[in-house]
Amino acid sequence: MAQIKQLFAYQILDSGGRPTIEAKLILDNDREVITSVPCGSFDSKNEALEIRDNDKEHFEGMGVTTAISYINNLIAPKLIGVSPQKQQQIDNWLIKADGTHNKSKIGVNTILTVSQLIARAGAVDLGVPLYKYLNELYKTIAGTELKIEHVPSPIFNMINGGKHANTNMEFQEFQIIPSSSLSFSRAYEIGTTLYHELKRVLMYRNANISVGEEGGLTPNFTTNVDAFEVLMETLPPKNLQAGHDVFFGVDFSSNYFYKDDRYIIKDKPHPLKREEFIDFVIYLMSQYQFLTIEDPIQSEDWEGWKKLGASISEQIYVVGDDLISTNPQRLDKAIKEKACTSFVIKPNQLGTVTEVLQVAHTARSNNFTYIVSNRADETNDDFIADLAVGIQADFVKFGAPVRGERVAKYNRLWYIDKVELKNS
Ligand code: PGA
Ligand code: ZN
Repeated sequence: MAQIKQLFAYQILDSGGRPTIEAKLILDNDREVITSVPCGSFDSKNEALEIRDNDKEHFEGMGVTTAISYINNLIAPKLIGVSPQKQQQIDNWLIKADGTHNKSKIGVNTILTVSQLIARAGAVDLGVPLYKYLNELYKTIAGTELKIEHVPSPIFNMINGGKHANTNMEFQEFQIIPSSSLSFSRAYEIGTTLYHELKRVLMYRNANISVGEEGGLTPNFTTNVDAFEVLMETLPPKNLQAGHDVFFGVDFSSNYFYKDDRYIIKDKPHPLKREEFIDFVIYLMSQYQFLTIEDPIQSEDWEGWKKLGASISEQIYVVGDDLISTNPQRLDKAIKEKACTSFVIKPNQLGTVTEVLQVAHTARSNNFTYIVSNRADETNDDFIADLAVGIQADFVKFGAPVRGERVAKYNRLWYIDKVELKNS
């Protein structure tokens, strides 16, 4: 088995034009791997923290040279000569080296880069695809079998709003979800076909067809509901039926429009109290064929989540993203209090690959489903595609089916589906 010969990190720009970390690892058999980490909005106090240089002279303070120097000068020397098969030991060492509850000392960006690099090197060392390698690691950590049976269903973010677009839409993501009964290949084709149809529908209405942070289109509408009406319009020309071939999803990301104890949306003439907003969400569910709803209630109102959940059909996945922030303690609480039925996994909110596999195991053993998600500011690394297959996520959410950093991940799933798993 190979050992680590060299490991070093350097800056690249992410899809939002901000510096992030890319790193390379070379084994003593001269095989190499590369990985990089994304950046989220980091507006939740419940997620792990990345470190930035805060040097205003460079990249407006957003440089990551301090994190990179930790990798190159502190971490790399300790890993030379070590086998990349020691994922758990290395991850535990990284967690201890940081020593804080939120990775704020050496930074989650530093830690995740090294952890992903070790996993990629471990897979290459054994000559197995990364998703299979991560699946084996999952099984070791969980102590249970997890068969690779499917490529997770994609949730396509067709219209961007909220903090991901400079428009008047309060909700963050208006999504299309092809039926889970379809193969990934068919789902991907439907996603891109409807995206192009949506562009046509918007152009016909003289609406904006620029793209937002995750590649979704960014029209202005009079109300948020209008966005679902426009998505509905894309289906008949393609002979697709809502509730049969495709479903709708929404990431309200409601912290964005929750102010002074009220939900403020342009669909209603006055700010809504929690109960009024819950009624609105239930109304929305009755009008369109939803499969998932994400962050409908602001993330500190656990009672509100339970109230909403009690009135929503069990067929609909109620998803905690900002609610849980991939934080194991908050996941435990959500499971115990039955606040939601599903949650979003974003590795850079947590830290190491081992911890990500552990939260997936906690969820799975409590019949809690999970969605592996990209961040707003991404790189072209497709690590999370393999992760999603390895832990058999129910869904993935990698943005719209356009733009390099989004399709890099969907394309990797397409390859796994077609070539590796030989699905038609
Ligand atoms: P973020 O968005 O990367 O800005 O957190 C993704 C999401 O809310 O699902
Ligand atoms: Zn979200």
